[in-house]
Order: sequence, then C-alpha cells, then structure tokens
Amino acid sequence: MKKLSIYIHIPFCHNKKCNYCDFVSFCDIDNKQEIYVKTLLKEIKMRAKTLKNECEIATIFIGGGTPSVLLGSQIGDILKTLKKHFRVCEDAEITVEANPDSLTEQKLRDYLMFGVNRLSIGGQTMNDKILKIIGRQHTSKQLKNAILLAKKVGFLNLNVDMMIGLPKQRICDARKMLNFLIKHKVPHISCYSLILEENTPLWKSVKEKKIFLPKEEKILQMYDFVYKKLKSKNYFRYEVSNFAKENFECEHNKNYWEMGEYLAFGVAGHSFLNGERFENTSNFEDYVKKIQKGEFAVIKCEKISLLEQKEESIMLSLRTNKGINLVDFNKKFSCDLLKDKEKEIAFLSSHKFIDIENGTLKVSENAFYISNSIIAKLV
Ligand SMILES: C[S@@+](CC[C@H](N)C(=O)[O-])C[C@H]1O[C@@H](n2cnc3c(N)ncnc32)[C@H](O)[C@@H]1O
Ligand code: SF4
Repeated sequence: MKKLSIYIHIPFCHNKKCNYCDFVSFCDIDNKQEIYVKTLLKEIKMRAKTLKNECEIATIFIGGGTPSVLLGSQIGDILKTLKKHFRVCEDAEITVEANPDSLTEQKLRDYLMFGVNRLSIGGQTMNDKILKIIGRQHTSKQLKNAILLAKKVGFLNLNVDMMIGLPKQRICDARKMLNFLIKHKVPHISCYSLILEENTPLWKSVKEKKIFLPKEEKILQMYDFVYKKLKSKNYFRYEVSNFAKENFECEHNKNYWEMGEYLAFGVAGHSFLNGERFENTSNFEDYVKKIQKGEFAVIKCEKISLLEQKEESIMLSLRTNKGINLVDFNKKFSCDLLKDKEKEIAFLSSHKFIDIENGTLKVSENAFYISNSIIAKLV
C-alpha cells in the first residue's frame, strides 16, 4: 500500500505578521478559527472518499501560519478526523508547529493526548533587539520558557527553528542560541537563511535603506559556524538547513525531499499525488465557501512531466546528505546523468564542489551553502 504524507495549513498568526514573512496567514482571526476547522474537517472527509483507503499515512504535519493559536481541542478534532477517515500508521510522525507567544502547558498536554509526537517551535533568534526588528511577537525569555516547558511536558522529539542573515545579527547571537539548544538537548534544529521576500515590511525597509542586512560573506561565515558547532555536538546535517541528532530527522520533510507523495488540506495547501500537483485557493472566504458547498477548493492542477520530475529530483536530492543515487535516478528517468552532464560534472568535480562515490553524487561537505548554484549547473 502506498505511503503518503499529510500537511494541514493553519493560516492564522497572533496579533501581527512578522516583517519578513510571506506565508499565507491572517491575523484578524476572531470568529474565523471555528469555521476554518469545521471546513478543514469537511475537506478531509471529502478527499478521503476519493482515495478509498488506497494509502497509508506515514506522517502528518500541522503547520502554518501558527497552529498553536488554535485551541488544543481543535488540533484534536483535526487529528481525530484524519484517523477516522484515513489509514494512519500506528507509528506515524505527527508534528505541530508552535510559536512561543501562543503555546501553553495545557495546549502541550492536549497535543500529547491527541497523539502529537513531534513539536516544532519557531524561535528565530534569542537576541531581543533583533526579535523586535523582525517583528516577532515574543521575547527570548518566552522562547526559552516554551522550550523548557515542551521538554517538561514530555516532548522528546523537538525542533527549534532559527534564522541567520537577520539585520544586526552576529555570530555571537547564533552561538548564544545554539548553546542554549545544545544545553537543553533539543534534538533537531532548522537553521534558515533569511529570504528577503518581495513586498514584506522588511523588504521595504531594506529598499529604503532604513535597515541593512549582513553581507553574503558574513552570512556564509555564520552558516559555517552553525554547521561546525552542531557537528562537534553530534548533530548531523541531513539537509542544507536541517540538523538532527541520530534518529531525530523529520520524516515528513524527508518524504518531501525524496519526492514522495503528499496531500495538503486548507487554504493554500499544495498537494502532489499520482504525478499531479494541485493547489488550493489562498483566499480564505473562497476556500470556506467552496468546501462548505461540497466542492474542492483547487485552483490549479497540473501533470508534472518526467523532465520536471527529473529536475526537481536533482534539486531536492542535492540539498540532502544522501545526494543522488545514480542507479535509481538513471533507471527512473531513463538517462545517464554522468554522461548527459559530462562537462558540468567535470567542472564541479575539479573544483571539489561535488563528490561521486559508491554510485552516489553529492554536494561536497564544504560546498553545501552554495548548493543552489551547484544545482543550477545540473538542471
Ligand atoms: C512558516 S513558519 C511557521 C512557524 C511559526 N509560525 C513561526 O514563525 O515560528 C516556519 C519557519 O519558516 C522560516 N521562515 C519564514 N519566513 C522566512 C523567510 N522569509 N526566510 C527564511 N526563513 C523563513 C522561519 O524560521 C519559521 O520558523
Ligand atoms: S509567526 Fe510564523 S507564519 Fe506567522 S508571520 Fe511570523 S513567521 Fe510567518
């Protein structure tokens, strides 16, 4: 039976959006949450009927936005409905994303009771000045408390998101945050390099020269620092931005990077199933109206050609520590990658940007941060 991942999008954030973020989420949440969860449950039931129990759910990820703005019981309703209408594996990885400002002990206990076994806390930085500049709604103290609380309540499988390349950020800020996470045995750390998304408040401030971002070489040094520090503490990098202790990799993300299939529910959910990609509307009212009428809220559906799948496979695999298994890749896409890209591969190998060993092509350890440029040469 085929394995599938499920993503549930919770498009709400507390109070005000962060200045750098362009994820689909709304802050005027009064009265919206109840109708949204009700609509999600209906969408789950509708979709489950079309799949007729043909698949097993290996991972569930409730992300956002900020899922922790919902009541614990609403997360429970979502999980109960999924388990009732889909075949969810006994040992499925079930993650909820949470922000320090909306996480409470009661919510954490509810999550555990409803079967959540992985928690991902958005931290970004432990420097209060920078938290303010980027428009986060929490302090470093709240972040530390949230981590300690999650551990106390019993979340062993815990991730904390951090960011590098933030305004005024220095290596000592990253060091401070990592020291805390390491000391408190947080087993998974995602470290994202800031993407300056167009039309966000941060983008405008940078454009108007009111805020300055660190230079690319400074960010590279910060990334290198994070990588080396975590490596020395036995966190291994299994994807450019993801570091984990042994057995704490995120199975949900791994499925995505391995081009496994996934179903997404909610506003702006993107799914990939049977070689097709389909996308829900990001308009809240349209989503609710459609689903309540018993229609799917899909606004775009496209068959992914073999060439697109091949390019995507290169892109995703080369960001991971596994790289490309050449035998499997050539078989799947009826090609010979080493021959087809002979010149490019010779160039990348001679500069030690990639390694080819035991039938696997990987980005070299020291070239991970520039993996995007390496990938661009191969697709
Ligand atoms: C979609 S957010 C949801 C998690 C949660 N709401 C939070 O902010 O903590 C997931 C993660 O994406 C990262 N992220 C969001 N916007 C980003 C950007 N413009 N550049 C890099 N990382 C970003 C942040 O690290 C964030 O924790
Ligand atoms: S809390 Fe998370 S999802 Fe919400 S605006 Fe901030 S980064 Fe984006």
